[in-house]
Amino acid sequence: TGPALLARITELIRDVPDFPTPGVGFKDITPVLADAAAFSAVVAEMAARVDGPVDLVVGMEARGFMFAAPVAVALGAGFVPVRKAGKLPGPTVSREYSLEYGTATVELHPADIPAGSRVLVVDDVLATGGTAAATVELLEGCGAEVVGLTFLVDLEFLGGRARLHGRRVEALLGVS
Ligand code: PRP
Repeated sequence: TGPALLARITELIRDVPDFPTPGVGFKDITPVLADAAAFSAVVAEMAARVDGPVDLVVGMEARGFMFAAPVAVALGAGFVPVRKAGKLPGPTVSREYSLEYGTATVELHPADIPAGSRVLVVDDVLATGGTAAATVELLEGCGAEVVGLTFLVDLEFLGGRARLHGRRVEALLGVS
């Protein structure tokens, strides 16, 4: 990430203490979406941080959708949503995971992921890595090749990257 974009992202992301529960420091990325120049630059930077062709970009509900879908368009790839339990009509495959606050289940439609697809995973925030790791397991279970995972923010102190070892993990902003 160039210094100007890094500074702008840092300026725009809002730190909200004790949200959604006490003790959790929430990163509000909505100001990045609302800034036309920053949003566009973030999408371009995310799209640039992958080697080789990408067939599909997978984004995680809900904030991941906001970055993954435009990155898919930028790369000329399709978009596939990974959703929380009960949102997709199915048939679905699902995996339970633990979150920084609580647990949840992620699901996707395997019919949207042809075996051998080269898939880029995009989300707004890498926290504990539970969501991303569960998503990788779902995708590999479909026979996809996960070519990388790209995040706007890596909350490095939560150690999410360790759960994705051996993968190409990119983050535009690291928070230590
Ligand atoms: C946030 C974020 C990531 C996930 C990261 O989503 O958008 O998807 O948590 O946490 P982890 O690395 O500890 O798994 P959240 O579940 O809050 O949902 P939202 O995007 O619908 O607000």
